[in-house]
Amino acid sequence: LKILGFVETQYLQSLLTIHCTFTIAEVRMQFSAIEQWAEMPAADLLILPFYSTADGAVSKAANFGSEMTSIEVPIAAGDFTASPGDMLITYGSTPTAPRLGLLGLGPQETLTVESLRRAYASAIAKSKGKKIKSVAFLLPTVASLTPSDVVIGVVEGAMLANYTFATFKQQTAERQTTIEQAFLVGMPPSMLPIALKHAAICEAVHFARDLVNGNADDITPQQFAKAALQLMDKFDSLKVRLLDRHELIELQMGLLLAVSRGSANEPVLMVVEYNGNPSSQERTALIGKGVTYDTGGLNLKPTGSMESMRCDMAGGAAVLATLSAVAALKLPVNISAVVPLTENAIGPGSYKPGDIYRSYAGKTVEITNSDAEGRLILADAITYAIRHLKPTRLIDIATLTGATEISIGPEASVLCANNQPLADALFAAGERSGERVWQLPLYKEYRDNLKSDNADIKNWGSRSAGSIVAAIFLQEFVEGLPWAHLDIASTAFLNEARRYHPKHATGIGVRLLVDFLEASAERT
Ligand code: BES
Ligand code: MN
Ligand code: ZN
Repeated sequence: LKILGFVETQYLQSLLTIHCTFTIAEVRMQFSAIEQWAEMPAADLLILPFYSTADGAVSKAANFGSEMTSIEVPIAAGDFTASPGDMLITYGSTPTAPRLGLLGLGPQETLTVESLRRAYASAIAKSKGKKIKSVAFLLPTVASLTPSDVVIGVVEGAMLANYTFATFKQQTAERQTTIEQAFLVGMPPSMLPIALKHAAICEAVHFARDLVNGNADDITPQQFAKAALQLMDKFDSLKVRLLDRHELIELQMGLLLAVSRGSANEPVLMVVEYNGNPSSQERTALIGKGVTYDTGGLNLKPTGSMESMRCDMAGGAAVLATLSAVAALKLPVNISAVVPLTENAIGPGSYKPGDIYRSYAGKTVEITNSDAEGRLILADAITYAIRHLKPTRLIDIATLTGATEISIGPEASVLCANNQPLADALFAAGERSGERVWQLPLYKEYRDNLKSDNADIKNWGSRSAGSIVAAIFLQEFVEGLPWAHLDIASTAFLNEARRYHPKHATGIGVRLLVDFLEASAERT
């Protein structure tokens, strides 16, 4: 595949001179393995893990030297109880670190990879704003976890919390709050590749977060597409194809074109291919919603609902970031990604509620709500994938319905599927990665909610079962292929920091999909 028909508009050029130029931050944390305690290099903070015990006492979660008398004072005074994520900083007499962080892991019996992620994320969050650039983690020994699971929990927790979006901060102090060096103490060097692998996956999460957090006026469809081109430069295994508005007209992608019509920024259909297993017939199509800003269109969103809508390309960002991780890890899988990129804006050309538009598949769609735009562009993208890329299964990921915030909230994404083994595999990946998903049913009775008098289907019926009905709309376009739908509207963008996610973009979907793809590669 080659790059076809990519037009950079003059309008984009003028925007870039007005707004801040957006650059993807390279937030790197260098990991190294320090097997022996005695070989530990100097670090700004040495983190020592502790368990809480049933009798209210604390116990060391690793073997460390008896020379550190400074830790005994806060413990004896009862100031440190080792509850999960608790960190007490003390200043000791060790030659290697000016600060000691006593980190609570809670009771050993209930410890999981996910609770390790959260505890180590909390340690990093509490180190922010201090002059800490290097951290030594003394790895805990956990009876119920394998050593590699411990490494995964520590590395992912630390990496995911080590993220700041400070593009627009003038204060350099606020920009320089990330940790650059991490020493994994007590880890044999043979396990370093596991640490580096999970650090690479988390770098892809940071990439997705940067795309989502960036100004909508900077991350336009064109700029998003450019990010894909930059990835193609970095990884030979990724092939990018971009279709511009003229090609979309030629193909008659009526729904993507309709949604894009209110915007001064032209739509792009982004296609990325990765062929990591030529001997396999399996090919997964990943389809990500790429609405770079959602005003609601003529059914305009009210104040309070629009301010976070630069997040509406989080599904597309997750897909692109997943591909970057898959390429970095050289996973033996075949993937075709399709991201329909557009704004849902208001303009003289806006598509009109009450009018009927023809989809790329041929089905006609009555627009009953211009704010239900995600399902429209995804429908055309799904058809593009089926007609041009020969997928054996489809997974779409989208900030599709606000109803997910009501039904499940920020602790899990909504999953719908027409194929139970596929749903089960995604569920298992969610449990392992901590990016949980919870399945909702595709009751066929709800298809009635989308019956239209004059068209084949309408895009919105009522508030009832909002997330399910949106998925049922998409199901009309999957042509019987195994398909799963991930609605990340409640998980992709947070108004408060949560777990290992700073406020705003979470990069959700990347670790889920990488885990899922890796596990499916192992099965075949
Ligand atoms: N992008 C929104 C969904 C959304 C809401 C994402 C909140 C993230 C946070 C989507 O396009 C939308 O507007 N959905 C409407 C659908 C309705 C008009 C059928 C919604 O959820 O209100
Ligand atoms: Mn909308
Ligand atoms: Zn939307």
